[in-house]
Amino acid sequence: MSVVPNQGNGKITVPELLQRKSSSAASSENSNPANSKGIVCLTAYDYPTARLLDEAGVDVILVGDSLAMVALGYDSTLPVTLDEMIHHARAVRRGTKRALLVADMPFGSYHSDTAESLRNAVRFVKEAGVEAVKVEGGERRLELIARLTEAEIPVMGHIGLTPQSVNALGGYRVQGKTTDGAEQLLRDARAVEAAGAFAIVLEAVPRELAAQITRELRIPTIGIGAGPDCDGQILVVHDLLGLTFDQTPKFARKYANVGEVISNAVRGYCQDVRSGTFPSDSESYHSGSSAKADKDKPVRISIC
Ligand code: KIV
Repeated sequence: MSVVPNQGNGKITVPELLQRKSSSAASSENSNPANSKGIVCLTAYDYPTARLLDEAGVDVILVGDSLAMVALGYDSTLPVTLDEMIHHARAVRRGTKRALLVADMPFGSYHSDTAESLRNAVRFVKEAGVEAVKVEGGERRLELIARLTEAEIPVMGHIGLTPQSVNALGGYRVQGKTTDGAEQLLRDARAVEAAGAFAIVLEAVPRELAAQITRELRIPTIGIGAGPDCDGQILVVHDLLGLTFDQTPKFARKYANVGEVISNAVRGYCQDVRSGTFPSDSESYHSGSSAKADKDKPVRISIC
């Protein structure tokens, strides 16, 4: 179920992402920013979305625990279970060939002992074929990140606004705005890198702080609401597509209004069924001599 990277098959790998960071650092030292190439990341939760993202050239596909909110209708990321995450990650795996596939460890799956957290991460690799896992938290995840890395499971860190901490943080707020908060985030970023993570998500932090962390770390920073100076960017795909019901944060640029497209299509269908104009004769199968015309028509939708 996994896609094995072979030299030259274009597969995005963890070493390649690290290499991109070090070559962009080298090129900025040589004041040649043209060589730096932003890492493009998006979330996906199902096969068709993953396939479209992969074929469009996205570098990293994250099966985010935002699944809970944008696809399962919960009002936070907390309720989604490990089994649900694995179920969706398996579908995403089937649609992903080139991109690096990362899955979020959901709330509760890495919060007790390290051995159990490791077993849960191993399930993602074995059952869903993911190539890396993401965990939220900085300094307090040092031991866990080191253990997962030692077990050959690449880890993406995530600091700043960590949605699984919504109850502890008292809401979804920009982090690192005070001097103390900024210093804590710097310590968190350093700890995540020192523990062996290959990349780190910076969510909802001031642009200036994200730029400083990006300059300081050897691993790529992936921003979401962290300004343009990170090594890469990530968005929740439903925000980008306009497939949401609530107000989206200011950093979530909307590239399409798929919600409206779906709504109009379904209204059209309702109208046609009610008025009797769907299905038409040409959309019907026939018996007798007119049946010949049906011969080459598929009777099931094919995904190939
Ligand atoms: O769950 C998620 O979608 C995320 C990203 C947006 C970073 O963690």
